[in-house]
Amino acid sequence: MTSNEEPTTEDPGRRYATTRTVAMPSDTNPSGDIFGGWVLSQMDIAGGIAASQRAQGRVVTASIDGMSFIKPVKVGDILGVYTEVTRTGRSSMDILVEAWVRRDQIGLREKVTEATFTFVAVDEDGKSRALPAEHALPNYVK
Ligand SMILES: CC(C)(COP(=O)(O)OP(=O)(O)OC[C@H]1O[C@@H](n2cnc3c(N)ncnc32)[C@H](O)[C@@H]1OP(=O)(O)O)[C@@H](O)C(=O)NCCC(=O)NCCS
Repeated sequence: MTSNEEPTTEDPGRRYATTRTVAMPSDTNPSGDIFGGWVLSQMDIAGGIAASQRAQGRVVTASIDGMSFIKPVKVGDILGVYTEVTRTGRSSMDILVEAWVRRDQIGLREKVTEATFTFVAVDEDGKSRALPAEHALPNYVK
């Protein structure tokens, strides 16, 4: 896959299309551009979905590495967030998160942001817990 090619659900072993939403006027700063924090929030939501599926339960965001805002997001763009579990430890996981837009809902597709999020599986007391073994996961996660 080249860097200009949007990942698709046809390649589920690599990156999953995890969330999709439209950037609204309420997500802008006073200059009319979409807040970086809004995009980051969408990426955290998508990464959290991927991580909680891998962990089969509650997770917390532990860190975010290599966040780079490549291109701006504009009102009316569809923001699609794609995720891939790239590392698992005892309780932690790295999730590569890419955000892509389709300009004005129907136009050009462009990657706007990427980062690696580390999530940690936690129990009901917020203490780290071991991830389930990969072979024990339901098929939709594999
Ligand atoms: C993440 C958290 C549970 C880790 O607690 P901890 O006491 O360090 O837990 P442990 O020592 O058992 O480590 C658990 C795992 O987290 C990893 N970890 C801990 N801090 C980390 C960090 N800052 N970045 C990346 N990984 C981290 C450890 O490497 C370990 O990985 P492993 O089990 O795969 O080997 C704890 O720091 C926490 O609750 N942080 C707040 C999370 C949160 O609220 N996020 C949302 C912010 S709004």
